[in-house]
Amino acid sequence: MFDVIIQDASLRFGNHCVFEKLNLTLKGGKWTCLLGGSGVGKTSLLRLIADLPAGETDGKILCQDGFPVSNRIAWMAQQDLLLPWFTVLENITLGQRLRRSWADILKRRPILPPEVQDKAMSILEKVGLTEKAHVLPQTLSGGQRQRAALARTLMENRPLVLMDEPFGALDAITRLNLQDLACELLKNRTVLLITHDPLEALRLGHDVYHLRGQPAQLTDAITPPGEIPRSLEDNNLMALQGKLLDRLRHESLLEPLAGEQ
Ligand SMILES: Nc1ncnc2c1ncn2[C@@H]1O[C@H](COP(=O)(O)OP(=O)(O)O)[C@@H](O)[C@H]1O
Ligand SMILES: [Mg+2]
Repeated sequence: MFDVIIQDASLRFGNHCVFEKLNLTLKGGKWTCLLGGSGVGKTSLLRLIADLPAGETDGKILCQDGFPVSNRIAWMAQQDLLLPWFTVLENITLGQRLRRSWADILKRRPILPPEVQDKAMSILEKVGLTEKAHVLPQTLSGGQRQRAALARTLMENRPLVLMDEPFGALDAITRLNLQDLACELLKNRTVLLITHDPLEALRLGHDVYHLRGQPAQLTDAITPPGEIPRSLEDNNLMALQGKLLDRLRHESLLEPLAGEQ
């Protein structure tokens, strides 16, 4: 799995400089978590990596293997973005259905070829939604909707997964369950997860960064020990969470945290 290198990324909207010459490496096959207050520039950074910029941008996004990053990204947002008139199965196969070629159409291949349908059903089984394949999203709970969004992300089968507060709207227990599921199903992918929640970042991140200030800067990485998802009973995690929460409340303080490298 390849590293993704964000080199000298800058973004400005008129006079407002969101960040300037920002550097960050997403380690291949690992989870990088990014914390930061509202409006600091987290989503903008994600959009810049996905080549969806607004404003004036500068900098490079490089992949260690030399290939471009485009077409190798899956995106998961806080809003599940499920289309209300499609069933769960139709929603999670939307990408495949939209990318049908003229040759498929002329050969009258089915809109959902059996191999795509089988793959989708096996992913729905993994996220525990087999029974919901043929229902509309409006009949799902918040947690089930986000599991459907995770299934759609997995259907895309991309090596780099960008997640913008994907569990932010869920209750605490559903959130923990989804964190565990995402960790299991996105194992060995390169993930950049944006979150407001220090505990989520510390459970899931191999590297945890904090974006703060204006222009925004990244703190040094915190690298909590142990495999992800980390246990809530891990005392180190709880101590680091307390310090991170404190730091988020006083964003102007720039002292390093114990455990930062
Ligand atoms: N299209 C835009 N036009 C003008 N300003 C924008 C636009 N998108 C974002 N911003 C500004 O850039 C800053 C960072 O926004 P954003 O990346 O959404 O923050 P975050 O995700 O950290 O909450 C905010 O001050 C926001 O108002
Ligand atoms: Mg945002």
